[in-house]
Amino acid sequence: MAESVRTLLSEEEVDKRIEELGAQISRDYAGETVHLVCVLKGAVFFMCELAKRLTIPVTMDFMSASSYGSSTKSSGVVKIVKDLDEPLKDKHVIVVEDIVDSGRTLSYLLKMFGDRGPASIRLCTLLDKPERRVTDVKVDYTGFEIPDEFVVGYGLDYDQRYRNLPYIGVVEFN
Ligand code: IMP
Ligand code: MG
Repeated sequence: MAESVRTLLSEEEVDKRIEELGAQISRDYAGETVHLVCVLKGAVFFMCELAKRLTIPVTMDFMSASSYGSSTKSSGVVKIVKDLDEPLKDKHVIVVEDIVDSGRTLSYLLKMFGDRGPASIRLCTLLDKPERRVTDVKVDYTGFEIPDEFVVGYGLDYDQRYRNLPYIGVVEFN
């Protein structure tokens, strides 16, 4: 099946919004060290760009969960593929995600990480598709709310491709 990508959010729009989020988080956590938890692989581009804009001390860790196979539909099953290297105890944790869709992945991860005794835990996502939510997940920092379309770029993939696009696009199946 042939597919093409239509630009939804340009590189400039995304960069500007990440700059704003970085400034907001730096203000909110003034005087603290923030521990960024990246949900691989999709959030890696966003987290690196966000981290560079934070003016407070930052530590980082990476984990990998999968709820999607190679299709565009959620399986509803969250599998921990790689856990964090460091404990979360007493840390100000921000879980950084590429996109919150059904919310299943994040509600599972926030519960699991919340049980590890962080001083605080918040969620920061580049993209949010609120229409698709099936679980109750509180998003503390959102880059953009987007319509219910399958997007790629800036870390997001379709069948592992397009992660390297410097903008967010919608995949169109012709
Ligand atoms: P959720 O558990 O349904 O919220 O799914 C979250 C995960 O599904 C994200 O972290 C993405 O990896 C993937 N996902 C959801 N929507 C999209 C999309 O539009 N493009 C690419 N990946 C997506
Ligand atoms: Mg993801």
